[in-house]
This record gives sequence, structure tokens and C-alpha cells, in this order.
Amino acid sequence: MLTIEHHPEGIPEKVVRLSDPESGLHGCIVLHSTRLGPAAGGCRFWHYRDDGELNRDALRLAEGMAMKNAMAGLPLGGGKAVLQVPEGPYDRGEMFRAFGRAIEMLAGEYVTAEDVGTTVADMEQVARSTSHVAGLEPQDGRPGGDPSPWTALGVFKAMEVAVRHRLGRDLADVTVAVQGLGNVGYALCELLHGAGARLVVADTRSEVVARAASNFGAMVVSSASHGGVSEIGQVAADVWAPCALGGALSSQQVDALKAKVVCGAANNQLVDMDVADKIVAKGVLYAPDYLVNAGGIINVAAEYLGWDEAQVVARVNAIPERLEQVLDLSVRESVSPAHAANIVACQLIREGREYRDTKAA
Ligand code: NAI
Repeated sequence: MLTIEHHPEGIPEKVVRLSDPESGLHGCIVLHSTRLGPAAGGCRFWHYRDDGELNRDALRLAEGMAMKNAMAGLPLGGGKAVLQVPEGPYDRGEMFRAFGRAIEMLAGEYVTAEDVGTTVADMEQVARSTSHVAGLEPQDGRPGGDPSPWTALGVFKAMEVAVRHRLGRDLADVTVAVQGLGNVGYALCELLHGAGARLVVADTRSEVVARAASNFGAMVVSSASHGGVSEIGQVAADVWAPCALGGALSSQQVDALKAKVVCGAANNQLVDMDVADKIVAKGVLYAPDYLVNAGGIINVAAEYLGWDEAQVVARVNAIPERLEQVLDLSVRESVSPAHAANIVACQLIREGREYRDTKAA
């Protein structure tokens, strides 16, 4: 059922292939790095064309988790599980219990949680086979459950810093265009509205945009995309907050952008690193996605490691300070904020050092 490829000196450290025809389990777990602690990262359950596409996604996502966890100052490495949605009929509970048994065989080297395509109910099934799982229902007042409000809070606090840095203003004096009013985007709108910001919003679901218009006085624009450029990404706003899918920042989108700050929750916003330089050349401040959206993984880590809510609050409150340091580094080294964040995260992983004293990093 498990085939493990070890890469002793390399990155990723380990690739674990999963195959259990009986339950329908098929996919892989990538342990990108365990230098800072157990490789933590959610489980994606998706339709892939073939194993090649599945493996590439797992490798990319595991690396992203290693960078995010290091930058968030967590004692966790980075990993990811990617599972293929079975073609025929299958028992979902049995499949996730089989996945749990595979995780248990790794004896704590990998910790899973929800990601695209998986739910709290799936993680409850995983938990029947292993304790190395988070994203379960909160119990006895301890952290757990939906991490989105923490993600939104981290993005909000980072946005305050980014707006002050680039525009010298408070959130009460800006217009923010929010793309995607899901769990994170809607909570972010609530915080921004509370701070006095004006809102422009777009979502493919008409009911949530109507709710944002009524509750927050938000202006609504279409979520349609023309030639890779979304309407919400080119409105006359001060800040653009991508909170829908990845890949929001393409070269064409940057050309069309009117906002001076980009700060949102979506993962993998940059289509490639060349776009990061293009954003700088345009005079736009891009707040690195995995730095600002770490609130969710901080809550997940707290659940797994047994921290209380005060620890979650303290660590989410450290996100804006980290952004300031990354922005300072980007000026000092004449690199984009995205490159500066990668420099810091890679250094922490290489040295096996937690980002405790951020000023020393
Ligand atoms: P969600 O699935 O609840 O919300 C996504 C929203 O985007 C939905 O309302 C959907 O209708 C909308 N949407 C999809 N395509 C759109 C388009 N073209 N234009 C406008 N709206 C569109 O997801 P959630 O949890 O709010 O996450 C949002 C983003 O933040 C994702 O990229 C996710 O990977 C990332 N993220 C989420 C975290 C969390 O704690 N939930 C943590 C870190 C990152």
C-alpha cells in the first residue's frame, strides 16, 4: 500500500506513494522538509488527469507549505497529501480511514488537515486511524474548526501595514476591492467595514454579493474575466484583495491594475516570479500571500500542538510585524517583497530555525 522514496540529502525529503485498491485510496504524501518539525499541510482531494499531474501538484503544494510554516514561525516543516478522486463508486469514510492508516505508519512525520475537496467530516474519519490530524471540531474551548476567521484577521492586519507603507493612510481612508466572498473574503469584508474602509466586491455567487452590498454598503462589480483580466482587479480602488482562486496576478492583470496595494488571502497569487518584478516596476506593493494568509495554519498548528487561543492571537498579531520586516529587506536588497519573503523562509528552513526573533532573521 505504501511505497516510500527517500531523498536523504535532497528536497523533498520523502515522497510516499499511496495505493489501496480496496478502499480506492490513490495519491501521494510529499514531505518537503521536516527540519523545523513534522511536515504539516492539508490533504487535497481532486480529479487529476494522471499521476504526473497529481505528483507535480503535491510537490509544489508541499514546498509552499514549508515556506508558509517557516514564515509563520511555527515549529512545523512542510508537506502535503494529494489524493485522486476515484473513478467508480467508493466508500468515502473507508478511503479516509485508509489514508489515516498510511499517515499513522509515518509515525508523526506528517500531519494532515483539510484542503480543497476535503472537509471536517473527512478529517474525523482520518482521526479514527491516526492522531496526526488537525482541522477537527473544536473541543473544550481549544483551537480547532474553521480557520478562516483567523486567516481573515491576519490579512486585515497585514493590509493595515501595507496601506500605511505604500499610501501613508489608514484603512478608513481607502477603497478595497475584494475578489471572492467565501469563508475568508466575507470575514475580511466585515473587518474592513468595521474599520471604515469602502468596499467593492465580486463573487460568482450572487447571494453573497447581495449580502455584502446590504450589510456593508459594498459596491458590486462582475466577477467575469476577459482575456485573463478580471473586472474587480481593474476597478479604481486603492487595494486589491484576491480572496478567490490562485493565479490572480498574471502579467495582463498587472497591466490592468489600478490599485497601489495587493493584499489578499488566496494562495499562489503570482502566476510566476517574473510577475513579482513587474508589480514592483509598476509601483504597486504586493504583500506576499503565504505571509499574510498564515492565520489559518497558525490555528491548525495550535490545535495539533495543544496551544491555547492566546497563542493563536499572539502569533496572528505577529503577521504585520513580519510583513514590515520583509518589506524592509526588499528595500535593502532591492528585490521584490515576494523574493524577500522567499529569502527569509528558505533561510529559516536551511538553518532549521524557528522565526521567533523576527528582527534577527
Ligand atoms: P471559499 O471556497 O470559501 O471562497 C472562495 C470564494 O471565491 C467563493 O465564494 C467563490 O464563489 C468565489 N470565487 C470563485 N471564483 C471566483 C471568481 N473568478 N471571481 C470572484 N469570486 C470567485 O474559500 P476560502 O476558504 O474563503 O479561501 C479563499 C482563498 O484563500 C483560497 O485561495 C484559499 O486557498 C486561500 N486560503 C484560505 C485559508 C482559510 O483559512 N480558509 C487559509 C489560507 C489561504
